[in-house]
Amino acid sequence: MQAAEFFDLLWTDFLLHAPSAESIHSLLGAGEPIVNDHIALRTFATPALGLEALHPLFTHLGFVVGDEYRFRAKKLRARYYRHPEAGVPKVFISELLLDECSEQLRGTVLKLCEQLPTAPALDPAFLGSGRPWDISFDSYRALLEESEYAGWLAAHGFRANHFTVDVNALSAYSSVAEVNRALVAAGYRLNTAGGEIKGSPAVLLEQSSILADRVSVDFSDGAREIPGCFYEFARRYQQADGSLYQGFVEANADRIFESTHALSR
Ligand code: NI
Repeated sequence: MQAAEFFDLLWTDFLLHAPSAESIHSLLGAGEPIVNDHIALRTFATPALGLEALHPLFTHLGFVVGDEYRFRAKKLRARYYRHPEAGVPKVFISELLLDECSEQLRGTVLKLCEQLPTAPALDPAFLGSGRPWDISFDSYRALLEESEYAGWLAAHGFRANHFTVDVNALSAYSSVAEVNRALVAAGYRLNTAGGEIKGSPAVLLEQSSILADRVSVDFSDGAREIPGCFYEFARRYQQADGSLYQGFVEANADRIFESTHALSR
């Protein structure tokens, strides 16, 4: 599988879980194709699903590790992958550190993981394959109480949590603030955790996002409407050497995670 095919697969799936993405493309692209800065994936830190286990899937696609991050309050570790080929979106992937979670949460998650083969996945398509386990709505609710991240991942599985519009590449908009104004005027709800704009030119990265679309998810005891996936917007600034900063900023990403929060609405 090539990187382009990988992103096509994840984009097709993403549209089903973030139906707003299509209309946002028309709003921001004004007829021109949209360039994506990065996508984000979530996983559990188990031997078969953690960052190290999934690493070969990214090298298979030609990605190399960019940098690593830590989100202590959310009990996450993350890294991003970049592709040597120009124009390929970066991949930001985080894992929930189960050792830092309660015994109850860890027990629930490990039970879900028992529904999967114990050997790590070999095909990058796994990362867009959706939820590989059955889960009840009650188990989902119990996970949410402790970790919104765990609840989302248990309900949605392996798919792009968000795609991110590269604001630098838009011709009709030159700032995240302008993009936000257009989104609000069109009726979208922004994630306001930490402010409508996370970051600043000083940290070389500004980001915003809409709240996740609510989508119907099949639980083992029936379908329920819960937060799905969302679109993010990022503008990067020049570093001292003149090139655009390509990494991430922990304080920004920390609040972007909250775009899928169920209890904030
Ligand atoms: Ni992001």
